Amino acid sequence: MAKHIGILTSGGDCPGLNAAIRGFGKAAITRYDMDVLGFLDGFRGVVRDRSKKLDVDLLSGILTDGGTILGTSRDKPHKMPVGGKVLDMTDAVVETYEKHRLDCLVCIGGGGTQKNALRLQKKGLNIVTLPKTIDNDVAGTDITFGFDTAMQTGTEAIDRLHSTATSHNRIIVVELMGHRAGWLTLGAGLAGGADVILIPEIPYEAERVAEAIRARSRAGKHFSIVAVAEGSMSRAQHEEVADLLARREAATDKEERRVFSEQLDAFHAESTDHTLKLTEALEDLTGQESRLTILGHLLRGGTPSAFDRVLSTRLGTTAAEMIADGQYGVMAAVRGGDIAPVLLDDVAGQKKLVPIDHPWVESGRLVDTCFGD
Ligand code: F6P
Repeated sequence: MAKHIGILTSGGDCPGLNAAIRGFGKAAITRYDMDVLGFLDGFRGVVRDRSKKLDVDLLSGILTDGGTILGTSRDKPHKMPVGGKVLDMTDAVVETYEKHRLDCLVCIGGGGTQKNALRLQKKGLNIVTLPKTIDNDVAGTDITFGFDTAMQTGTEAIDRLHSTATSHNRIIVVELMGHRAGWLTLGAGLAGGADVILIPEIPYEAERVAEAIRARSRAGKHFSIVAVAEGSMSRAQHEEVADLLARREAATDKEERRVFSEQLDAFHAESTDHTLKLTEALEDLTGQESRLTILGHLLRGGTPSAFDRVLSTRLGTTAAEMIADGQYGVMAAVRGGDIAPVLLDDVAGQKKLVPIDHPWVESGRLVDTCFGD
């Protein structure tokens, strides 16, 4: 009997989502004779039972498109804003799943989506996930789709900033997304030849950055490109966060943990302008004119790179194979050259950060990039 499969995209969009939906859908429908229902706007679509049946016509011509034909949202089934309140809507998800007699729900998303997916798996639903995000911070997979394209976009931006920085003898600080991970800034910074790369995993000191810029000036290079990950922290900020995290970890009751979580949220909310403050500090410390460029959501847009199209297609088609084999509770992950299943239990709640001795960091140091430490 034909299997009935639901599919959704959740969390921030990224290039390659449509390629993954197409890869999964075409393999599921044409090879495995499955029915595929696309839920709209992430988990919200399952809660509200809003979907469209996917067929080969709908899946044609979308390989190269950015965004997602299904729409997305950051809604979590267990904490969903409904009529001015935040409610646990997990039962509504289960109801929709049963109503459509689904055999599996495919959830395409980043770290948050993996956690939501595991919760649903524990409620008895069959789940398969795919790892996407420009941040490349999903555990259990060598790489997420969307990352390669965003790294290319970031690199092109840094290339362009070079010519204007040189012409004006300026410091140009460029902020890239990546949430709490430095992969995107590290990759684009290395590829774009940034003189300074600041990532969350390596706390920095503004004076160290200023000294690297002064040294460049002394060597006759009167411009500098400083690539900063949005989650970067000075040493002092890093210590403050580490202290809050340790106290939350040590907290014995739920209420105490909640207070530390709120303090952490407040810290991050207050730090959103840290790159602007760093830009101003560098101007003061070096006496050199400085400008800030924030790439923001630009990094999430546009057509996927060839690498991401291939990766999304492989992940999507392999997910269809896994479901045909009755393999559930797993994420289709990149392991070496292969796509392999990894238990959701081993993925959810983990973050893949940049190891501070990662080869990209080592190579950066060998070409005299300053990491602010
Ligand atoms: O997770 C992807 C990402 O683009 C992060 O790099 C960034 O911190 C976040 O999403 C931005 O989210 P939003 O689109 O909700 O502002």
